[in-house]
Amino acid sequence: MNHVTRRAALGIAAATPFMTLGEAAHADPIVIKFSHVVSPDAPKGKAALLFKQLAEKYTDGKVSVEVYPNSSLYKDKEELEALQLGSVQLLAPSISKFGPLGVKEFDVFDLPFLMSDDAHARQMMASPMMADFNKKLEDKGVEPLAYWDNGPQLYTANVPLIMPDDFRGLKMRIQGSKVLDAVARQLGALPQIIAFGELYQALQTGVADGEDNVASNIWTQKLYDVQKNLTVSNHGRLTYSLITNVKFWNGLPADVRPGLDRAVKETTAFFNDTAAKDNEDALNQIKASGKVQVHVLTDTEKQAWIAKLMPVHKEMEGRFGKDFIEKIYKASGFVPPQS
Ligand code: LMR
Repeated sequence: MNHVTRRAALGIAAATPFMTLGEAAHADPIVIKFSHVVSPDAPKGKAALLFKQLAEKYTDGKVSVEVYPNSSLYKDKEELEALQLGSVQLLAPSISKFGPLGVKEFDVFDLPFLMSDDAHARQMMASPMMADFNKKLEDKGVEPLAYWDNGPQLYTANVPLIMPDDFRGLKMRIQGSKVLDAVARQLGALPQIIAFGELYQALQTGVADGEDNVASNIWTQKLYDVQKNLTVSNHGRLTYSLITNVKFWNGLPADVRPGLDRAVKETTAFFNDTAAKDNEDALNQIKASGKVQVHVLTDTEKQAWIAKLMPVHKEMEGRFGKDFIEKIYKASGFVPPQS
């Protein structure tokens, strides 16, 4: 019991001297630690706070949610280990970080331009194929409760990124996905896995020259302060999975689960309604800051990027199998360009 819940329990016991021990234990809230790496003002940060409010309300205070934003409890890789060990109960990491759990299949969603618009991304995440992905996580002790679509990825750097050759020799920060590693290499860049919590400093000190992210992260982490250029490339997607520990979730008392399930459902709807608007607002604010030069890829430029990056799809047949990639195309509605 942490000192807050212990104090609360003692306070209740002192106020009601005739309470039995069983009742006192029941009054002790179940603590859910929800750790994440973004700002409280980013869509995931807002969703975490909403979840806290809803979960506590719908369980009549039987659950107390503690939210730890901005990597204040754990960074990218540590948080997944902590969840498996039961030190934290809720996370919402990017699915591009699931490789180290031993579920390499999630990296497939990073194939360039696969889910570059809302329709393809939502179609993929709603597809029956996701049940197979969920099963893989469950086998690792991780229960996916929902998928949250945070929108298209944009590139930032300290040089303009207009054509694929512009990446040559740049140190690009990537998330842990092997597909993102292959994308950077195909562009002639040097990929570096850096935890999100260390990204600002890495860009500020030149450890990395650039990175890709959604506009709301670029804005709320102030990455625009340490980058000169931003390209609206929409080459990938930032998808989160709200995950918990299988044993913890299945062990919750029967009178608590329905309230939490309802909180998950409503928070997911909030997230999916909020992210696109937040990204739009963030991009406008970044432009208005005057600190970065914003470039939107023209159709011709985009075709050059697609032509350069489609070989990564081919290369990844070696990792995932051609059949699997074709099933993903079908599920997401992606039609590969004729070469
Ligand atoms: C990143 O590492 O760039 C993102 O996954 C961070 C996040 O959680 O939005």
